Amino acid sequence: MALERTFSIIKPDATKRNLTGAIVKKFEDAGLRVVASKRIHLTKAQAGEFYAVHKERPFYDELCEFMASAPIVAQVLEGEDAIAKNREVMGATNPADAAPGTIRAEFAESVGENSVHGSDAPETAKTEIAYFFSGLELVG
Ligand code: CDP
Ligand code: MG
Repeated sequence: MALERTFSIIKPDATKRNLTGAIVKKFEDAGLRVVASKRIHLTKAQAGEFYAVHKERPFYDELCEFMASAPIVAQVLEGEDAIAKNREVMGATNPADAAPGTIRAEFAESVGENSVHGSDAPETAKTEIAYFFSGLELVG
């Protein structure tokens, strides 16, 4: 399996509860390396553009409000099979369904406020990384 990059967000519910380090440790323990990272506070419009794929879903407005409610940490994670590995470490979208030991099982508060985002495929990883980072900011 080739070295791969994926995009990750530590969401507002987690940054507010001072869980940034605990969540990064989960990624690092799984063999993923942080090759870019920044803490930023999105506007609702920026959150809406990022999550545009969900704009017809009933939870879209609430999701955009939430993502703009406090700072996030945007990151690029690198490793073998990084896209799938990140999804595995994150756990299921709904923390009630997330496997024990996953980030969402341990930290998520609800299906909406679920602590992390992770790209779901190579194409989305590429688009999402480019939305937040320039090539110069990917430093290995
Ligand atoms: O984040 P993930 O890829 O696991 O799930 P998604 O289906 O792509 O949904 C994106 C985000 O929308 C989730 O992580 C939740 O924050 C939110 N969501 C929600 O608020 N209510 C739902 N029923 C499903 C998703
Ligand atoms: Mg998704």
